Amino acid sequence: MGMAYLLLFLFLFMPCLCRSDDRLTSAKPLLPGDVLISDGGVFALGFFSLKNSMLSSYVGIWYNNIPERTYVWIANRNNPLTTNLPGKLVFTNSSDLVLLDSTGHALWTTTNNITTRNDGAAAILLNSGNLVVRLPNGTDIWESFHYPTDTIVPNVSFSLSSTDIARRLVAWKGPNDPSSSDFSMGGDSDFQIVVWNRTKPYWRRPALGGNVISGSFQSNTTFVMYQSTVDTGNGYYMKMTVDGSPNVRLTLDYTGMVSFRWWNSATSSWTVFNQFPSPFCDQYAFCGPFAYCDDTESVPTCKCLDGFEPDNLNLSRGCRRQEELKCGGEGSFLTLPDMKTPDQFLHIRNKSFNQCAEYCSHNCSCTAYAYANLENVYAAVDRSRCLVWTGVLIDTKKFSNGFGENLYLRYPSTSGMELMERWKGNGIGGLISCG
Ligand SMILES: *[C@@H]1O[C@H](CO)[C@@H](O)[C@H](O)[C@H]1NC(C)=O
Ligand SMILES: *[C@@H]1O[C@H](CO)[C@@H](O)[C@H](O)[C@H]1NC(C)=O
Ligand SMILES: *[C@@H]1O[C@H](CO)[C@@H](O)[C@H](O)[C@H]1NC(C)=O
Ligand SMILES: *[C@@H]1O[C@H](CO)[C@@H](O)[C@H](O)[C@H]1NC(C)=O
Ligand SMILES: *[C@@H]1O[C@H](CO)[C@@H](O)[C@H](O)[C@H]1NC(C)=O
Ligand SMILES: *[C@@H]1O[C@H](CO)[C@@H](O)[C@H](O)[C@H]1NC(C)=O
Ligand SMILES: *[C@@H]1O[C@H](CO)[C@@H](O)[C@H](O)[C@H]1NC(C)=O
Ligand SMILES: *[C@@H]1O[C@H](CO)[C@@H](O)[C@H](O)[C@H]1NC(C)=O
Ligand SMILES: *[C@@H]1O[C@H](CO)[C@@H](O)[C@H](O)[C@H]1NC(C)=O
Repeated sequence: MGMAYLLLFLFLFMPCLCRSDDRLTSAKPLLPGDVLISDGGVFALGFFSLKNSMLSSYVGIWYNNIPERTYVWIANRNNPLTTNLPGKLVFTNSSDLVLLDSTGHALWTTTNNITTRNDGAAAILLNSGNLVVRLPNGTDIWESFHYPTDTIVPNVSFSLSSTDIARRLVAWKGPNDPSSSDFSMGGDSDFQIVVWNRTKPYWRRPALGGNVISGSFQSNTTFVMYQSTVDTGNGYYMKMTVDGSPNVRLTLDYTGMVSFRWWNSATSSWTVFNQFPSPFCDQYAFCGPFAYCDDTESVPTCKCLDGFEPDNLNLSRGCRRQEELKCGGEGSFLTLPDMKTPDQFLHIRNKSFNQCAEYCSHNCSCTAYAYANLENVYAAVDRSRCLVWTGVLIDTKKFSNGFGENLYLRYPSTSGMELMERWKGNGIGGLISCG
């Protein structure tokens, strides 16, 4: 008798007695209540609804082994099932995934366009969190990693190619609304990562310097996270890898913040270990044109670049040139160390450091340059990174932690040496009160 109750209890309260394959084939669709579970049990895929909107349901991927339900990918974020009539996710005979509502209307689909039928083809949820469409010969013709939602997990190759708008991260609208918001994150030019608020930049990771693999060790944890940039010859990718295997993810939050989190099993919660933009200095163009934010001060302060003075004492208006540059001659350049390189540069390809300096000094409209060798970019054809500026210098700052690089700033030739001394001696330019 007691045994029977126990069995009944198990039957009623087991979380899921449904099938738990890691793959979909054309023989059997995925129905509400079904879950795919990756081979090693790390990720799950199925239908779900969120608090406050039980009538909207989605197909997505979440961590199978984390008690706090956390979605890393959603197929139909902007096109939920909106009735309680069941939909289904089918793998078609032409190797596409299609999400159908109860009337057979497609809410989401992949477009692989394989016309021949592949009996052994399947959609497989991998232990990395990647959902792939795999042909019998092992070739993946589609992967969810290429179409991220708001999250990057380790091993995603996140495209930094500016034309790839479909491959940007787009934040949720709110904590319980996964539809697309105005915040997106992606590559801008080959080297930068930008968060946009609609079309306005909100935060920018500056152009890569020489050190394109960066490790970040968290002293109170047991893992090291690496970010690397890979040049495939066909565009750049950013990739995050983790040593020590906790669950780590990067999300573009609905607030517009880029957050790195790790799953802390001791506290059973996600812990933020890095977040951008930080409150000071970090928001795009915080200090206005030709100004920079000095992070070496105890209170980060906006200052004018050398040779510039505050424009009307108005912080958001930035600075203006004290003395116009005269064209002709080679001009002289100040070395500003440990700087965040400004936005809106031109990348001049295939130059040595000296050629880069020469290019800028011989061109009257060039007001600054910065140079790096991309030592660690894999497979790069041209590893030189000569950046030159001809217009406004915007969104720059002076780091306090050595993460910056030299910015070479043109200065009217006569007073160059004098200013170099002033820069070293900390008597820098005009000061704008940060309030
Ligand atoms: C695939 O083809 C088989 C045989 O023609 C058919 O029975 C099945 O319904 C098809 N599956 C889908 C998802 O279209
Ligand atoms: C598949 O076909 C559709 C419609 O013809 C087209 O829009 C889409 O770009 C094609 N996809 C691929 C991957 O070729
Ligand atoms: C990432 O890829 C590496 C190399 O292929 C592999 O060893 C590692 O297990 C992968 N990590 C995850 C979380 O899938
Ligand atoms: C696998 O099959 C597809 C389609 O038939 C083909 O395009 C691809 O080249 C094949 N890949 C390999 C590694 O044989
Ligand atoms: C994003 O832009 C809108 C205007 O388009 C503005 O109201 C909002 O404050 C901006 N958000 C942030 C976080 O700056
Ligand atoms: C390490 O501990 C500090 C202080 O408790 C905390 O602010 C920080 O987020 C922790 N780092 C990680 C990676 O959890
Ligand atoms: C500063 O400049 C901004 C933009 O030009 C303007 O909106 C603001 O009113 C100015 N503030 C002051 C105190 O002049
Ligand atoms: C790069 O520059 C070197 C020397 O300046 C030249 O020999 C080489 O052809 C250039 N390569 C490309 C791809 O422009
Ligand atoms: C100066 O640089 C600008 C921007 O790169 C370029 O358009 C212009 O042709 C250059 N002028 C000379 C004389 O090289």
